[in-house]
Amino acid sequence: MQSNSSLIDAIVEQIKANTKQRITFAEYMDMVLYHPTYGYYSTQALNIGREGDFFTSVHLGTDFGEMLAVQFAQIWEILGKPTPFVLLEMGAGQGYLAVDILSYCQQQYPDLFAVLEYIIIEKSPGLRKVQKEKLQDFEQEITLKWCNWEDIENNSIVGCFFSNELVDAFPVHQFTLESGKLREIYVGLGEYPNFIEIIDEPSTPKLSQYLELDKIDISYYADGYRSEVNLAALDWLNLIGEKLQKGYVLTIDYGYSASRYYNPRRNQGTLQCYYQHKRHDNPYILVGQQDITAHVDFTALELWGESCGLNKVGFTQQGLFLMALGLGERISSLSASQLPLLEMLRRRDSLHQLLDPLGVGNFGVLLQSKGLNNREATQVLKGLAIPE
Ligand SMILES: C[S@@+](CC[C@H](N)C(=O)[O-])C[C@H]1O[C@@H](n2cnc3c(N)ncnc32)[C@H](O)[C@@H]1O
Repeated sequence: MQSNSSLIDAIVEQIKANTKQRITFAEYMDMVLYHPTYGYYSTQALNIGREGDFFTSVHLGTDFGEMLAVQFAQIWEILGKPTPFVLLEMGAGQGYLAVDILSYCQQQYPDLFAVLEYIIIEKSPGLRKVQKEKLQDFEQEITLKWCNWEDIENNSIVGCFFSNELVDAFPVHQFTLESGKLREIYVGLGEYPNFIEIIDEPSTPKLSQYLELDKIDISYYADGYRSEVNLAALDWLNLIGEKLQKGYVLTIDYGYSASRYYNPRRNQGTLQCYYQHKRHDNPYILVGQQDITAHVDFTALELWGESCGLNKVGFTQQGLFLMALGLGERISSLSASQLPLLEMLRRRDSLHQLLDPLGVGNFGVLLQSKGLNNREATQVLKGLAIPE
């Protein structure tokens, strides 16, 4: 598989248009993934899943979405059963998670379903189209909307903002250290169609401010150390903080605390590319044909969240979160089920994969809240409850 030559040309134009003949790595990653016509998420929308470049928990069956629905139902109760209750999914991929959550709410929590407003914020026009097709049956049943951030009034949402594997897909700035100083990695033109990296002064003081927020002191790091800074994640939290009046933010993704993320031994950062389930670290090949991600720095989300009015409620691992919400009972009831043997084994394998500590079971689950009164704030969320 070759790079997408139209995308390469668009990036070349962008670099040429810049007075310094370069763009930040974040701008490069944004174009590669989200160029509206040629970006990975515009052209490879159907390449996500078991047969594609990578799969997420939602491709392992309906259980992940159903367990989230259990958590949302409790949140609705904690908030005093508000009408409407908004579930706002950010980065909804192919729409599977939305279908699983809505179907389960319809079956199990009809009172909640009756007052549900489901909003999707999705950057990729191609995926938005896929989601609309998949969710068309629900359009008659509930208020279902696709919005941009500007469409949502400040301080208007009562409910829960949530995402699965969104923040790892945000374009990141890359930095390195030279003579003990912070430098940014830019992308410039090599011999066509190749790109080269250019190292120079940071494009914004926000890079060092981010590291200060994380209490990372670069004077302890060796020259040549390289990593990323996810400024887009902070902008995203600002928006959530502005729009949420009362409720929760649930973020599920792979990542580390800042001290692990910026461990001096992790000296090449966490940037990874995925092509047909193969992982490597070269973002300059297969341009537009491969996914590029970076791990999530959960410390930055927690600390920046506080400054946006989002208080940390708890942090756990996906495996523990799903067990607390009832996945364990689903596994134990399997042997008594009437499913044909092969199907039963397949289902058991999927449920185990959701909990796998070497896979998605080790993902981080961060819960933050805003605007809760004392009674609401003391309620323990089911997914964070410690098993007896
Ligand atoms: C890795 S996929 C995960 C999809 C889905 N949540 C899942 O678990 O399968 C990332 C999704 O986030 C979307 N996305 C990336 N940046 C976004 C942004 N700033 N706002 C909204 N959606 C975004 C992508 O288009 C894609 O749908």
